[in-house]
Amino acid sequence: MNNTFSTLISKLTKEEKSILKNNLASQIESFFDDGNNLKLGDSIIEGKFNLLAETLRILTPNNERMSSNGIAFRGFPKWVTTELLENLQNEAVDRRNKPLDRFDHFLGCGGKEADLLSISKEVEQFVSNYVGKVESTGIASYLYYDRVGDGIRPHIDTEVFSINLILMLKHKFDPKLNKKSATVVFPAYQPAEKYYLDVGEVLIMFGSSVIHTRTIINADEEVHLLTIGYKLVN
Ligand SMILES: [Fe+2]
Repeated sequence: MNNTFSTLISKLTKEEKSILKNNLASQIESFFDDGNNLKLGDSIIEGKFNLLAETLRILTPNNERMSSNGIAFRGFPKWVTTELLENLQNEAVDRRNKPLDRFDHFLGCGGKEADLLSISKEVEQFVSNYVGKVESTGIASYLYYDRVGDGIRPHIDTEVFSINLILMLKHKFDPKLNKKSATVVFPAYQPAEKYYLDVGEVLIMFGSSVIHTRTIINADEEVHLLTIGYKLVN
């Protein structure tokens, strides 16, 4: 990014940065096709996309704490015990039968187990170890991608939960298809990165600064996730 532009951004107030960021975020989808795949026709479009991704990143508060690819952790934390995983998996299935909202995926809000986990001090400390100090938002949601065509359009998350913890609860797919849906991040000036999480695996993402999506699921594919939001604090 050129220096004049970044100097200009640094002079904006917090409110001006937020308004600009919301405006720019509305342009994200125009770079993607209906399958949530990035379509960069030529180097000019590629340059525009990278500038957009980088500007969104630097407009986000505490962006100096962010990893360049927007991912802070991937793995199997000790606090995901077999018992916890089973409880969350069962609660997710239970919640699935109580529809709330449906867009291009199904959002069922938390439940007793999910809500308890979202305010766990142990998990909050775990997240802080990778991204710096965070506060729990107490917001946990089950996400379901279980109908052909489900996915989520490329976007950035609200700053109310700038850190997004994703726990994979279920991923059923046809091994013969050799094709699975993934969480994908699109960091500026870097190749997109696909994450195929195993059940019990956790991803911690700077969701309010890095463009991300879930690719469209295939026939007979089913994904259940739990997401928990955290707020970056000083
Ligand atoms: Fe998101």
